Amino acid sequence: MADKESPTAGTWIAVFLGAFVIAAAVGGAVGFLAARQGVQPAAQPETPGFATFGLRAFISGFVGSGGSIDGVRNPTLEVEVGDRVSITVTNGEALVHDLAVEGYNVQTRRLGGDESQTITFVADQVGSFAYICTVPGHRASGMEGLLVVGEDGISSGPGPAQEVDVADISKDPTDLPPPITRGFPTTVHIFMEAREVVAEIEPGTTFRYWTFNGTVPGPFFRVRVGDTVVVHYRNHETSTQNHSVDFHAVTGPGGGAVATQTPPGQETSFQFKALNPGIFIYHCASPHIPTHIAMGMYGLILVEPEGGLPAVDREFYVVQGELYTKWRPGTDGHQVFDGEKMRNEQPEYVVFNGRWQALTADNALRANVGETVRIYFGVGGPNLISSFHVIGEIFDRVYTMGDLVSPPAQSVQTTIALPGGATAVEFAVEVPGNYILVDHALSRTIDKGALGILVVEGQENPDVFQP
Ligand code: CU
Ligand code: CU
Repeated sequence: MADKESPTAGTWIAVFLGAFVIAAAVGGAVGFLAARQGVQPAAQPETPGFATFGLRAFISGFVGSGGSIDGVRNPTLEVEVGDRVSITVTNGEALVHDLAVEGYNVQTRRLGGDESQTITFVADQVGSFAYICTVPGHRASGMEGLLVVGEDGISSGPGPAQEVDVADISKDPTDLPPPITRGFPTTVHIFMEAREVVAEIEPGTTFRYWTFNGTVPGPFFRVRVGDTVVVHYRNHETSTQNHSVDFHAVTGPGGGAVATQTPPGQETSFQFKALNPGIFIYHCASPHIPTHIAMGMYGLILVEPEGGLPAVDREFYVVQGELYTKWRPGTDGHQVFDGEKMRNEQPEYVVFNGRWQALTADNALRANVGETVRIYFGVGGPNLISSFHVIGEIFDRVYTMGDLVSPPAQSVQTTIALPGGATAVEFAVEVPGNYILVDHALSRTIDKGALGILVVEGQENPDVFQP
């Protein structure tokens, strides 16, 4: 397992966010040097029925102390079902850390200096469970490993699915404000709350998402060019991380990310003038930034041009993103985030609106024969470019790259949306039936979940299509 926090990343974060993060980055570099190791063997308990481990806590990861895990960064702790597990955690640096085991509800207190604490519990649930530091930002900096309970090691799969905080993580694709009718700029207040919630990726499989306002993507914001936008940012008190927001519609440092680095339970705000019309991504920009995006922290803001966009009958809101989980789609239980797969840009899931085939059944897009539709389509990413296509339709107009100033491209089959980018497509629906939204890099649609359906109802139109 390679390290998640390289000195290069630490430097970039420090430059980007300023002094607040420098201490963490320096601590990370020190821990990183102390901890860097090669391939990790799994630890084995030495006395039957007992499993005892020592870990030292650094911002860059937990480092094994003693036994076969000695010196290994974030070692996999392998135990048998029914073992009495003892983990002794010793803080390794000036920063404060703790250790919690997800799914087992055990946690040390926050340890400062060179304090230690031992936690003991019985490993009575089969599966793999993340152990993490719960201090905001530390898990994402690399303080995460696995406790594996059961004979087959990692192949024993995830621990049981967790109770969900929200019934459906996915944003309703019709949940967006109507077009702006006023012909003048004004001041607009928008409200965002960072919330970490457990929800289903697919039936029977849960995941701890990080969100804006409890859905993926977050709210669709709609303003007019020339508006002054006041952003009110709250981070929920149950968060384990600092969160923030970078609006690509902003002209100013970090797109707002410097002003909104917000610890759990606190609020920040800033304001900006929307100088450029366009369709813009927003996303969390707290370290480790790709992790925050990959956990679900992104959405769209539309800055309408003067006079607005041409009227259409239906508008929809769709954002593509990746989920980097330890196990493949179809694995029941509570999925664990896999930072190594993210680093390698190999997601297990690629999804529209947050989860496996979210935009189907009750969440399908719907229109009637003879209507015109517009889909605002963004990519939160963090890494993959989308080749957006609707099977059985041709886009009459495409606002390529989210550009609302130039004339749109016309008569387009498949269009591009970049990570941190967006587009809008418009087309008329002439024939009833089901039209499938895909990323035409089709493994993502067929095997990884990026699939939606546009249901068109109305009279058959044999002049255009005869089955
Ligand atoms: Cu920590
Ligand atoms: Cu965040």
